[in-house]
Amino acid sequence: MRFRSGIAIDLGTVNTLVYVAGRGIVIDEPTAIAISRETGHVLSVGQAADALTGKEPHGVDVVHPLRGGVIADLDATVAMLQTFVRRVRVRRRLAKTIAVVCMPVEATVVEQRSVLAAVASLRPRCVVQLVEEPVAAAAGSGFDLLAGSGAFVVDIGGGTTDIAVLAGGHLVRARSLRLGGDAMDDAVAKAVKNEYGLLIGRNAARNLKMTLGLADGVLTEAEVVGVDAAGRTPRTERVSASVVSAAIEPAVGSIVATVREMLSDIPPNLAEEVVRSKIRLSGGGALLPGLAYRVEAEADIATMVVEDPLRSVIRGAAQLLEMGTGDAG
Ligand SMILES: Nc1ncnc2c1ncn2[C@@H]1O[C@H](COP(=O)(O)OP(=O)(O)OP(=O)(O)O)[C@@H](O)[C@H]1O
Ligand SMILES: [Mg+2]
Repeated sequence: MRFRSGIAIDLGTVNTLVYVAGRGIVIDEPTAIAISRETGHVLSVGQAADALTGKEPHGVDVVHPLRGGVIADLDATVAMLQTFVRRVRVRRRLAKTIAVVCMPVEATVVEQRSVLAAVASLRPRCVVQLVEEPVAAAAGSGFDLLAGSGAFVVDIGGGTTDIAVLAGGHLVRARSLRLGGDAMDDAVAKAVKNEYGLLIGRNAARNLKMTLGLADGVLTEAEVVGVDAAGRTPRTERVSASVVSAAIEPAVGSIVATVREMLSDIPPNLAEEVVRSKIRLSGGGALLPGLAYRVEAEADIATMVVEDPLRSVIRGAAQLLEMGTGDAG
C-alpha cells in the first residue's frame, strides 16, 4: 500500500527536512528559530534565523532547539515546525495522514514523547510513526532493505552519530554516540583560541573543519577571521591543518573505535554481505575530508560516502513512508 497523503520529517540537530508525498522535499533548512525577546513572536526560522547565530542582535533570541539529536526546547521546536509547514502550505485537512519522523536509536521514552508532541501540534489527527534514524539512513543509502540483506551504516549528524548493522529493515546492532559535527566545531573553535589567541564563531569553525578536515588533503592551512582574544579587535589568521585535525581527532577517534567494536561483534552470517555492500557513511559529517579513508584504513573494509549524504535520512524516511513501514507511536 502506498500512502499518498503522508509527510516524513528528519528533525535534525543542525538541519530539518520535510518530505511531502507527491511533492518531494519541500523544506531543507537549518534547525533554528529567531524569537523577539519583547513579544515572544517568531521573527524568522531556518536559514534566516541561523544566519543571526552568535551575532547578538538586540532584542532577538536565536534558538537551536535540538541538542545531541533530541529536542531541548519543545516550544521553540513546535513554533519552528509550524512556521515551516505554514510556509510550504502542507494541507492540514487530510483525513488519513501518516507522519514518519526520524529519531536517534538511543532516544529515551521522554525524548520520543517530545517529538510526538511536536508533530501532533502540526497535525493533531495524524498517525505518527517513529523510525530509527539509521534505518532511514540505510534505506536512503541505496541498500535494498526488503531483500533482507546485511548493511553497515554510519550516520554522522550534527549532534549524534548513529552506527548500525541491519538485516533488511531490522536493526541487528546499533549504537548512538551523542557527538557529531557540532562537537567537532566546538573543538576547532577552542583550539584556534588556544593556539592563536583568536575567538571565532561556530560557522567559522565549521568552515575550517569542512575545508581542512583530517589534514590528508592538499591544503595545509586556511584563513579565518575572528576577534583577538586580548585586543578585542577583528583579526585574520592562517590556521594550520594540523591544529584542526588534532582538534577533531577525539570525536573522529570515538566514531572509528565504535565502528571497529561493532564489526568485532557482527553475526557471522551477515559478514559477507556487509563486506560486499561496504560501510556506507551518511549524514553531513560523512563529507568530512579524509574521514572515509580513515574509516576504511582502520576497519579494513571498503568504505564509501553515500550520494548526497545530507539527504539520505529524508530519502529513506520517504521510502519507508511509501512502504508503510515503521512502529506506530
Ligand atoms: N563538507 C563537510 N565536511 C564536514 N562536515 C560537514 C560538511 N558538510 C556538513 N557537515 C556537517 O554535517 C553536520 C550536519 O549534518 P546533518 O544535517 O546530517 O545533521 P543533523 O541530521 O541535523 O543532525 P543529527 O542527525 O545529529 O540530529 C554539521 O555538523 C555540519 O558541520
Ligand atoms: Mg540526522
